[in-house]
Amino acid sequence: MSEIVILSGSPAIPSRTDILLKYIETLVGKEGFTTDYYSITEFSATDLFQGRYDSEDILMVSEKIKRANGIIIGSPVYKASYTGVLKALIDLFPEGAFKDKPVLPIMIGGSNRHLLAIDYALKPLISILKGEPMQGLYFVDKEVDKQNPLSPIRDGELLNRTQSQVKEFIEAIQKRM
Ligand SMILES: Cc1cc2nc3c(=O)[nH]c(=O)nc-3n(C[C@H](O)[C@H](O)[C@H](O)COP(=O)(O)O)c2cc1C
Repeated sequence: MSEIVILSGSPAIPSRTDILLKYIETLVGKEGFTTDYYSITEFSATDLFQGRYDSEDILMVSEKIKRANGIIIGSPVYKASYTGVLKALIDLFPEGAFKDKPVLPIMIGGSNRHLLAIDYALKPLISILKGEPMQGLYFVDKEVDKQNPLSPIRDGELLNRTQSQVKEFIEAIQKRM
């Protein structure tokens, strides 16, 4: 069974990042993949702040990542980058945790001003874990309909881009199987 791990770096509840990632989870589910979804909000603050890389939860997510065929990682833009709490989690992963895995980066900001945060912040982080970053998707928060989680992307062109990025991500996984 092919497995995708989805990581959400938003500390907000509710969160547009979560709405988007859960929608994308349904798209990959329709292609026959099983998924494990982790939100940063589910991890213990003590584990993150005290760098407990050997805690049960951190070991469990690291093991899931090791077995996964691909990773989807999403974060809101905070101060022109991914969130600090996402970095606090990723700091606890073993070296090369994303090795040889396609990784689909997704970011959502309050405007297009920090569109390049995907390229200058999130992709380098993926690369340092030896993952293979896909082109990725950037959303402006008003493009995500919080009231409509089953179909949150209003704009047709953005929806097409999302579907085609998911397709490319799946093809990248299948090439490696
Ligand atoms: C602390 C904080 C910092 C933010 N910094 C930025 C920023 O630098 N650039 C930007 O485009 N949006 C910024 N935003 C807006 C969020 O990225 C945006 O509202 C996003 O949709 C929030 O996603 P969420 O609902 O998953 O938390 C910031 C929001 C917060 C709360």
